Amino acid sequence: MARSIAFFNQKGGTAKTTSTLNVAAALAERGRRVLAIDLDPQASLSMATGIDISALDHSVYDLLLEDEFPIARVIVPSSIPGVDLAPSHPDLAAAELELLNVLERERQLDYRLRAADLSNYDYVLIDSPPALNILSINILVATGELVIPIEPHPLSLMVLRRLFDTLRRVRRLNPEMTVHGFLPTKVHHSSRLAADMLATLEEEFPQMALLPAVPLSVRGAESVAERISVLHYMPRSAVAGAYRDVGAWLEAHAPGIATSNGTERAYA
Ligand SMILES: Nc1ncnc2c1ncn2[C@@H]1O[C@H](COP(=O)(O)OP(=O)(O)OP(=O)(O)O)[C@@H](O)[C@H]1O
Ligand SMILES: [Mg+2]
Repeated sequence: MARSIAFFNQKGGTAKTTSTLNVAAALAERGRRVLAIDLDPQASLSMATGIDISALDHSVYDLLLEDEFPIARVIVPSSIPGVDLAPSHPDLAAAELELLNVLERERQLDYRLRAADLSNYDYVLIDSPPALNILSINILVATGELVIPIEPHPLSLMVLRRLFDTLRRVRRLNPEMTVHGFLPTKVHHSSRLAADMLATLEEEFPQMALLPAVPLSVRGAESVAERISVLHYMPRSAVAGAYRDVGAWLEAHAPGIATSNGTERAYA
């Protein structure tokens, strides 16, 4: 069965989309078959992987809001070799209101993904919107695993308390979810802010893993403009190397497998 991993943080600009895209590319480079699902109405992941959203017939909006709409009708090839995409559409912003009237509105994505035939894929990676709304709760209920991209910023730690409160409440609807931990992004190696944040994370969340950190790179943003991954745009860059390390880390940390120190991973 495909592993589903959501990149989630309700704070904006923590590199959720950049991480979804480049981890997808890294896993594909390792020969894995990857489906990326864009669940952000901003549709940044769809645009960054070469999709013309104005020309789409269907998007994840149809998947979520229509009864028994097959995911196969939504999936398109992306610009990243080995990666397919279930694209988003700005209409998805309306889903929040429309889901209000739906029975079991938090479980719609979960039901759709459970009903879908995803046997073609090893990984389903989910890009999340910067919000804690019904759409994002749907992601937390549906995903098997969670990674929290976090950037060195004084506000980053403050939003975590609310995120973990939400995770505790959602746990009842998704008791099997593995919260891996934090993916530090945009890390400047000589920045005190970054060193302080990493030390605070280790101190306050000892049960959470710190995934391989992704360095700050101004040129990294250019790959988005080129609509390809950093792994293809700058294959030998430190950012590409970091995302390869994140891909390898995830492969080594499938849920249920004992970690290197012999203990089962803790849950949030
Ligand atoms: N390693 C990096 N170094 C420098 N800039 C980066 C890096 N990773 C991402 N960025 C830039 O940071 C900005 C935010 O990244 P991204 O869009 O991936 O974040 P996000 O969490 O998906 O944002 P949103 O919350 O709006 O969905 C973008 O301009 C992106 O190009
Ligand atoms: Mg994004």
